[in-house]
Amino acid sequence: MLGAINSVIRCVIGVLMAKKESIYRQVEAEIKSVTEGEGNTIANMASISCLLNMAFDDFFWVGFYLVDPDIEDELVVGPYQGTLGCLRISYNRGVCGAAAKTGKTQIVDNVHEFTGHIACDSNTNSEIVVPVHNKVGRLIAVLDIDSTQFSTFDHIDKLWLEKIVNMVFKK
Ligand code: SME
Repeated sequence: MLGAINSVIRCVIGVLMAKKESIYRQVEAEIKSVTEGEGNTIANMASISCLLNMAFDDFFWVGFYLVDPDIEDELVVGPYQGTLGCLRISYNRGVCGAAAKTGKTQIVDNVHEFTGHIACDSNTNSEIVVPVHNKVGRLIAVLDIDSTQFSTFDHIDKLWLEKIVNMVFKK
């Protein structure tokens, strides 16, 4: 009996992962089509935020925090979709700050267990933040995505979101 239940669970997880991959494949193609030939960073960030937000029902907040060129180790809100986002984030705070400081993607299954999490909206329960580098490898922003569900994000999100930001901003 337990074996059968385990098999059903594995099957459902497999179907859900395949669906996520399929959506990413589609939205990556849309983003490539919209941003190809567009050199304006803000315009591309706005398009990416819109298309990712529309593609995934679980995405509650999608947007970019830009490296502020005038204030060291500080991020300032850029284009986004969702409820009001915090205006500025120090590299020493939050999931965004951790991604900016380490240069590594942060996946948080439960934001309430993340020390220093910044709750721009109390409805957020899980989050992924992807560093964005330009063609010379300099950090220019982070892509922040919040979900109202717990454990929304996994290695598939990391792989595809890194692929998308590298496709657009490292060209
Ligand atoms: N939760 C983020 C802050 C940005 S809001 O989610 C839009 C953080 O902890 O860095």
